[in-house]
This record gives sequence, structure tokens and C-alpha cells, in this order.
Amino acid sequence: MVTPQARAVLNDIATEEFAHEEMMGTITCQLLCGLCPDEIIKGGLDPYYVGHGLGVYPCSAAGVPFSASALQSKGDPVTDLYEDLAAEKKALKTYDYLLDLTMDPDVIKPLKFLREREIVHFQRFGEALDIVKFYLGENKTFCMPEVESDKCK
Ligand SMILES: [Fe+2]
Repeated sequence: MVTPQARAVLNDIATEEFAHEEMMGTITCQLLCGLCPDEIIKGGLDPYYVGHGLGVYPCSAAGVPFSASALQSKGDPVTDLYEDLAAEKKALKTYDYLLDLTMDPDVIKPLKFLREREIVHFQRFGEALDIVKFYLGENKTFCMPEVESDKCK
């Protein structure tokens, strides 16, 4: 990343995201531990159980294993920060959808905490984007280069 401040934001958020993975894994483990085969089948978890037992395996809700294909990088700081902003918004919606599917207060509380952190991440990526754009001398708005008006200059 092109500035120390932006680099620090990325390091802070990346570290926190790893902690969030641990929290989600712990929630998943606590929900799965002690289930009997009938409960596993009733919950639609039998394909997962056959593949992974009751262990925590990083995959999407559809069972697609986590891989580097979930990550994006174009090597351009502005482009990558916009991608980070989009990722935070998508994570926020994922937490909304997870909250729609549970009534367990022991699940809702940590999910709401994690959801709030995505909002903070979005804000911090936005601050980093402003810092990087200022450093690079880029406009803060999108402008089409072929526009003849002086509004974008
Ligand atoms: Fe995040």
C-alpha cells in the first residue's frame, strides 16, 4: 500500500478478520458439537458431516471450499480499496442474512458484534481510500475523461 497510514489500516483489518474467522469457527463448533445423526440429517448437515464430521471446515453456505479465488487484487491501491469496501458491504449483508436465520441469543449477540465491525471496516477502508487518493492526487469523484465540461477538472 502506498502510504503508511493506509498500510496500517490494512494490517489492522486483516488481523481482525482472522479473529472473526476464529469466532465464526467457534460458533459453528459449538452449534455442531453433541448433535446426534438424526439432528444432523434434520438440519440438512449430512453432506457436510460426511465430508468433515463435526469439524470446522471453511466453506461457503453452499459448501464451496474457501480458496484464494474468494480474494481480489488488481495491484492498484485505489481499485483494491474499492474492492475492500465492496467486500465489507457484502459481509454486512451476509451477517444480516445469518441473523434472519437464527433466534438463538447466543448466536445473535456475536453475529451483531461482527456485523458492527464490518461497518467499522467499511469506514476505515473509506478513510484509507481518501488518504491514498490524496497521496496519488486523484479526484475524489469518478469523472469520464472525454467529458468536455470543466466540472471534472
Ligand atoms: Fe470486515
